[in-house]
Amino acid sequence: MKTGLKAASLVLMISMLTACGTDRDSNAPKLTNPKSSTSRTHEETSTATNANGTNGSTKASDSTSYSEKTPIKSDSPDSKTAESSSSKISSKSDSASGIQVVKDPTSITVLVNKTHKLPDGYVPPHLVYPKVAFPYSDLIEKRMMRDVAAKALESMFAAAKNDGIVLYGESGYRSYIRQESVYAYNVKTKGKAQASIVSAYPGTSEHQTGLAMDITAADVQDDLVQAFGSEPEGKWVAKHAHEYGFIIRYPKGKESITGYEYEPWHIRYVGVKAATYIYEHHLTLEEYATQKENS
Ligand code: DAL
Ligand code: ZN
Repeated sequence: MKTGLKAASLVLMISMLTACGTDRDSNAPKLTNPKSSTSRTHEETSTATNANGTNGSTKASDSTSYSEKTPIKSDSPDSKTAESSSSKISSKSDSASGIQVVKDPTSITVLVNKTHKLPDGYVPPHLVYPKVAFPYSDLIEKRMMRDVAAKALESMFAAAKNDGIVLYGESGYRSYIRQESVYAYNVKTKGKAQASIVSAYPGTSEHQTGLAMDITAADVQDDLVQAFGSEPEGKWVAKHAHEYGFIIRYPKGKESITGYEYEPWHIRYVGVKAATYIYEHHLTLEEYATQKENS
């Protein structure tokens, strides 16, 4: 099941060459009732009204069973949760491939993307279950986040509720092994080019940091779809997420920078200070990281 690192790097390089920054249509089946009390077999379904006006679906799916329990290690001290300790985004060169291994994976502003991967075997510290609603009842891996992000998510969901907005968590922490399955499923069902703009290659997903959560709402049938961004819930999140330390990580119009299609459902915790700056300056995390490096 586990792919060799050499092969992984090769495939990643190929996918980077073939699929950055385009916005296109794709389809994947919706496999189970999201309100089912059991966990979903697949995730990250996006029924998108794309630039070409068609109604499509992008789904970075998880071909593993959600009853799967990946052992969680929390053995490294979570010393980088304070905003003041997190602003430095640095990385070291991995190889001649141009892909860097992030040096400080526990930083809350860590940049993880197609060219910045997590160290092999990385498991984030202090993974917990956020006390927010999910459209399933199982206490499974993808429900988890790092504690600092989980607390912020709880605050954000509570504030939304006060404003009459009901949000659901869908998919947070994803281990390397699960990301392998998600990515492989997407390649199998969509082809490599499409998969690589909706789904991260193993080791390069923000979900492995424990700082990201895919969120949804009843208005979009608890799916992960671009239409979420046009619903009151998605609009609320876009307007207020930064107040709780989250950014919309893959914004519309920035696909060529992030390398991924618009994902209004994927929020990433970076702390209130960084999130507010990113929000006010209409930046991506890539642009923020570049500014920090140059400052
Ligand atoms: N869908 C995002 C890019 C991920 O797979 O991490
Ligand atoms: Zn996501």
